[in-house]
Amino acid sequence: MLKACPDYISGQTLCEHFQVSRTAVWKVINQLKADGYHIESVPNKGYRLIRDTDIFSGAELIQAVRGKWAGCRVIYKKTTGSTNLDAAAAAAELPHGAVIVADEQTAGRGRRGRSWVSKPQGNIYFSLLLKPDFAPEHASMVTLVMALAVAKAIEKVTGLSVMIKWPNDIVIHGKKVCGILTELRAEPDFIHHIVIGVGINAHQKEFPEEALEYATSIDLETGAFVDRTELVAEVWAQFEELYEIFTRTLDLSGLLQEYNQHLADLGQQVRILDPKGEYTALSGGINARGELQVTREDGSQESVFAGEVSVRGIYGYV
Ligand code: BTN
Repeated sequence: MLKACPDYISGQTLCEHFQVSRTAVWKVINQLKADGYHIESVPNKGYRLIRDTDIFSGAELIQAVRGKWAGCRVIYKKTTGSTNLDAAAAAAELPHGAVIVADEQTAGRGRRGRSWVSKPQGNIYFSLLLKPDFAPEHASMVTLVMALAVAKAIEKVTGLSVMIKWPNDIVIHGKKVCGILTELRAEPDFIHHIVIGVGINAHQKEFPEEALEYATSIDLETGAFVDRTELVAEVWAQFEELYEIFTRTLDLSGLLQEYNQHLADLGQQVRILDPKGEYTALSGGINARGELQVTREDGSQESVFAGEVSVRGIYGYV
């Protein structure tokens, strides 16, 4: 009732609605305050929910889920080592679409063996478990599906223009706000499970000196306060929709146009960091397999596979 009402609700109204005593209402209000809800109590007026903080909790997330399967099971942890590891460890008992969400990770994992700093500073750390029946060769593309889902969700919730730095970093105004790490357990011809881990900088205000140039948070870019629950629920809803398009063809043909519209660097010079030798090329967008198509300075075309190389913009991070 407090969430639905922008004004004060009297203790009497709550008593009558829930058919409980004043003391019972008072106890519940205190419990909500202890859970982190900011509730103002004013004599003769009643109670009012102040929306200057977002409550990131299992109960709030479960209420916010809209999809059929993405978020069908939500496990929320105040703190954990890594949600990706948790999802992998519990995969046998969890359904397709289950998510593990945390407020802090003490051993957050980044791409290429790097770590992902995951302090409890109002960011989002979650892992989505998939149990698909397609062959392992298609698995790497789900990372790009998630990148598009995150970009669209941030756009919808904040109104900002959000770009993707191929293959799966999400950037706002040229700085990274989100990283995605997909890990899978598979045999050569069979996927046991895929875990897509997503880290979104939501409320973080301070960054280490060396990261300031390329990292940011949603709040820093909007100058407002993003509701993490609303954002996460939107990411899951977007992912569900895009994943269903992806599984129709088992490639990115149905999402190509939208992905390329969000691609930072499209039509620009990029530096391809290929272990066989770096080179400069013109970025031409992804193909249906999710490979970046580039044109070298001598005019030759290459399809660049994300597992092998990384791309740097000529000017700065993007
Ligand atoms: C990157 O290096 O850009 C990818 C970072 C992925 C971080 C997320 S946070 C939730 C999930 N759990 C982890 O340990 N890592 C991913």
